[in-house]
Amino acid sequence: MMRAPVANLPIAFEEVSVEAGARMILDRVRLTISAGPPTILIGPNGSGKTTLLRTAMGLLPPSRGRLTWGGQETGVPAKRALLFQRPVMLRRSAAANIRYALRSAGIPRNEHNARIEQLLDQVGLDGFGERPARRMSNGEQQRLALARALAREPTVLFLDEPTASLDPAATKAVEEVIRTVAEGGIKIVMSTHDLGEARRLAGDVVLLHRGRVIEHAPVSVFFRAPQTPEASAFLAGELLL
Ligand SMILES: Nc1ncnc2c1ncn2[C@@H]1O[C@H](COP(=O)(O)OP(=O)(O)OP(=O)(O)O)[C@@H](O)[C@H]1O
Ligand SMILES: [Mg+2]
Repeated sequence: MMRAPVANLPIAFEEVSVEAGARMILDRVRLTISAGPPTILIGPNGSGKTTLLRTAMGLLPPSRGRLTWGGQETGVPAKRALLFQRPVMLRRSAAANIRYALRSAGIPRNEHNARIEQLLDQVGLDGFGERPARRMSNGEQQRLALARALAREPTVLFLDEPTASLDPAATKAVEEVIRTVAEGGIKIVMSTHDLGEARRLAGDVVLLHRGRVIEHAPVSVFFRAPQTPEASAFLAGELLL
């Protein structure tokens, strides 16, 4: 399938550090995130995955170094969306949550109803429109959050552990959505703890440890021939904080 060209890529981290007090939570990160299949971030708890996503998204300024989007330091584009690890829904219906996102993305009002139906359908929540969003299960809310993120028609979509609270069937459904979205030309940058999922969806894999990028490789290379002791240890389930 032809991929539409994605503006604003690559996202380049040039020796980016993020400090919190005296602690380095990202440590001189060099990383280029290019157009193409999903870029998947893996690493132990606390290794910096969420921080890296928030920094790439422009929500967290680097303490040092430089971040560029499509070669520009200034232009963090509007057409981006982040699905947080713990999404927060408005105390309204599922449909109203999506409508809110459509409105804030400037989608014409006369398109809202059709888009809401289509987005609910796309994430497997067909018929859930009138449910109170906060009463939905974790897995349902995660999928609703994905629909809400897609409502913004992002060119780059950041996903922080989008399947962490889902059962196997729901995980499969969300992975299908992610695959379809990526094939449609939206760049996916996503963290996961599920190595099987990384293998199924990447693209390229970025291994983080203590705020550093330990390894960045095409998925087949990463799993077949890890280049560092840390990567081998992580794949064996032995890399700890
Ligand atoms: N604002 C902050 N102030 C102080 N420390 C922070 C801040 N934000 C993150 N940290 C610390 O930075 C480290 C990296 O956190 P981050 O949430 O990026 O890790 P993660 O890889 O997403 O972990 P997890 O797999 O548990 O989600 C953690 O040790 C965290 O406690
Ligand atoms: Mg995290």
